[in-house]
Amino acid sequence: MPKRIMANRDFEHIVDTSDEWIIQRTGIRQRHIAGDDETTASLGEEAARNAIASAGLEPNDIDLIVLATSTPDNTFPATAVDIQNRLGIRHGAAFDMQAVCSGFIYALTTADLYIRGGMAQRALVIGAETFSRLLDWEDRTTCVLFGDGAGAVVVEASEGAGLTSDTGIIAAKLRSDGCHKSKLYVDGGPSTTKTVGHLRMQGREVFRHAVGMITDVIEDSFSVAGISAEDIDWFVPHQANRRIIEASAKKLGIADEKVVVTVDRHGNTSAASVPLALSVAVADGRIKKGDMVLLEAMGGGFTWGAILVRW
Ligand code: ACO
Repeated sequence: MPKRIMANRDFEHIVDTSDEWIIQRTGIRQRHIAGDDETTASLGEEAARNAIASAGLEPNDIDLIVLATSTPDNTFPATAVDIQNRLGIRHGAAFDMQAVCSGFIYALTTADLYIRGGMAQRALVIGAETFSRLLDWEDRTTCVLFGDGAGAVVVEASEGAGLTSDTGIIAAKLRSDGCHKSKLYVDGGPSTTKTVGHLRMQGREVFRHAVGMITDVIEDSFSVAGISAEDIDWFVPHQANRRIIEASAKKLGIADEKVVVTVDRHGNTSAASVPLALSVAVADGRIKKGDMVLLEAMGGGFTWGAILVRW
């Protein structure tokens, strides 16, 4: 996480809002905001180093880097290649993946398929964002919602029996539907305005679609794996809004105590939110080896998806 923490009260001097409104509508109490010396690449590098160390590996053991981000350091080259260089890795491949808040789910699914296809042995999957740089700081309907940060995991090839008791990714489902573009987008880009642009969102419209889309794709992943909500030990959803998380868990029949919530501390960190929430629940001992973990996200596009992982 970036060093600087911004509490809800800090917004009361910038836009017409209040700590009470933000907590009640979103569950967010604070978020981290990148300083001038912190970028998507620097935050991603730190998360990558932590993930590689906790896997008991060295950077050179990695032969694939997939970075999920919508806030790259440069339009090109891919920030993943920058992180690869920062880690001192000169072999393998690195690329960015852009699916906004679903980016980590897309990136982890992609890395899994590279490994299953024999294209990689050990993949580093990172979600890293500096959404604060895309925000319109005069728009109270969006600027209070997002934060910056990065999280990462390492996945490696291993033989399984093709059962849900195998370790690793058991099932993944991805969806997208571009007809929803205008509900959540950035109003700039190299090919259109030649600028970076600002995030624009019809919050109520996003909310209206979110719970149905999230729970549908999760049910699809259950069908692929042949399991049900009772088999889930931990639900690690995208951290956009506490009300969306709670409504999704309730609709699926997942008990509150199995839901990992970090939106209060992190805000919505887009592609970084799922790996950040994972890292919190692994570090505090909740997620243990052998647990069935359900990951999910939905974001701009719209894109959405779910992954079942035997930890
Ligand atoms: N402080 C005070 N009042 C505010 C603020 C604010 N920060 N923002 C909006 N309001 C006002 C609005 O102007 C509106 O006032 P009005 O009635 O006078 O017009 C009133 O609050 C209610 O606005 P709504 O938009 O209806 O509020 P809602 O209960 O829907 O909450 C929110 C807004 C939090 C954005 C909600 O719609 C939401 O969470 N939507 C989903 C957004 C989301 O999760 N996006 C990310 C998912 S995808 C991704 O992660 C990229």
